[in-house]
Amino acid sequence: MLEIDKKREIVSTLMGKGILLDRAMLGKIDTIPEQERFHRFILDDNAAGQEADFTRLLEKYLQTRTEQAEAAPDTTDTQNAKVEIIFSYKAEPKKREVQDFTGYFTSRYDSLRSILQHRKELQSLTSINRLNQKREREQTALIGMITDKQETKTGKIMLTAEDMTGKIKVIVSQNSDAYEIAKETTLDEVLGIVGTCAGDVIFASNLILPDIPLYKEMKKSPDEAYVLFLGDFHLGSKLFLWEPFEKLITWIRGEQGNEKQAEIAKKVKYIFVTGDLVEGVGIYPDQEKDLAITDIYEQYNELAKHLRRIPQDKRIIICPGNHDAMRIAEPQPPLYKDFAEAVWKLPNVTMVSNPAYVNIHSSESFPGFDVLMYHGFSFIYYANAVESIRNKGGQRRPDLIMKYLLQRRHLAPTHKSTLYLPDAQKDSLVIDKIPDFFASGHIHRTSAANYRNITMLNCSSWLEMTEYQEKVGLIPQPGRALLVNLQTRKVKILKFYDDTQNEEQTSEE
Ligand SMILES: [Fe+2]
Ligand SMILES: [Fe+2]
Repeated sequence: MLEIDKKREIVSTLMGKGILLDRAMLGKIDTIPEQERFHRFILDDNAAGQEADFTRLLEKYLQTRTEQAEAAPDTTDTQNAKVEIIFSYKAEPKKREVQDFTGYFTSRYDSLRSILQHRKELQSLTSINRLNQKREREQTALIGMITDKQETKTGKIMLTAEDMTGKIKVIVSQNSDAYEIAKETTLDEVLGIVGTCAGDVIFASNLILPDIPLYKEMKKSPDEAYVLFLGDFHLGSKLFLWEPFEKLITWIRGEQGNEKQAEIAKKVKYIFVTGDLVEGVGIYPDQEKDLAITDIYEQYNELAKHLRRIPQDKRIIICPGNHDAMRIAEPQPPLYKDFAEAVWKLPNVTMVSNPAYVNIHSSESFPGFDVLMYHGFSFIYYANAVESIRNKGGQRRPDLIMKYLLQRRHLAPTHKSTLYLPDAQKDSLVIDKIPDFFASGHIHRTSAANYRNITMLNCSSWLEMTEYQEKVGLIPQPGRALLVNLQTRKVKILKFYDDTQNEEQTSEE
């Protein structure tokens, strides 16, 4: 979030508390250290009280800040944690109209087109309505959204591609370079198409994915600092793993394991939580019988009680998932303050939407790392729909699913793969910015893999295997944390729960 937005938020919160600001006070806001922390402070009635005088409120904040800094563990060996929100969706309540859908697809097409259009294979780019001016067998290139896919009797794949000017059939034969990509194509993705015109069809010789450029660098932090990736706590369920979770918290506090581990825990500066913080209520029929905590507020209160024990120099970044108390249509806004108030009030928490982009650990001499957070609701669709993923283990291979989505530069290219709210201004599920980390959850499998210098991480869960999972053959890998060393970019899987039966390989480079 831009600083200017933060200032605006602070001013509106102060006004909400009946505090009016003169010009000098407005100027003072710019000089307040850690504005986000100040904002949290004034939101928290326990901390800020009913104080209605701006100067006294500011003094009170600076006082608590000094006290907390004195109580916090020593962090002088590395720079302080820095978190900046690059993108977090803000919901605007409004009625959706048909033109929102049209606008949504146009904005998706335009974003992906701008990624594809500079590719050298697509130099002779044209639009579909201009194809009839082309001579028979002339080479052509276009960018189209795939709206239909059929297999012909002779084993060819016939795609329908659409752009803003029309639609055309694209034939891909088995001996074409385009065949492997055509086979993997799911509907609504946007591809570059190279081929020859023949009447009202194109014979494709090549299909171009938006993809990640090969030259993407592997950024490394100048100092030693660590990030922990967690997700899918599902607190509130009877199957919640209390003991492993407690071990995790004590590990983070540096009270578990040997001296070296305590040393590393101290250097953990960032903790990402990729959604499904609580089990929720009313998520599926008869869920009540599976709940240990049946009240949604209590689920978040209980979670906050544990997260509060994490030292405050560690920043916690949270996005919601489909079990959290909010709409499941994506993009999901940050967790609602009224339900998750206790979590919101933690001074070291940053709330973002699902999906979101967050930059961490920047300094004057280092640009920091961009982290793309997405809970992963669409993943199950691709695990089943894409043959090569299905054959290699489907849902057991989140690494392959994540790679597939990075190549398509979209978190849910097929519009039936997730529930979404169309926004005519922007398709928030387009991967328009290339991240250093892509972090997800939802399928409760732990994996770490690399694709073109993007570290793809799928977080574990903190839930015993459910009867349903057992029945459908989904084997979760609960009680694990992914620990990343930002200086070396090495990933370690820390196990807080003993489940040796799940030791099979789950990812590949
Ligand atoms: Fe989950
Ligand atoms: Fe989920």
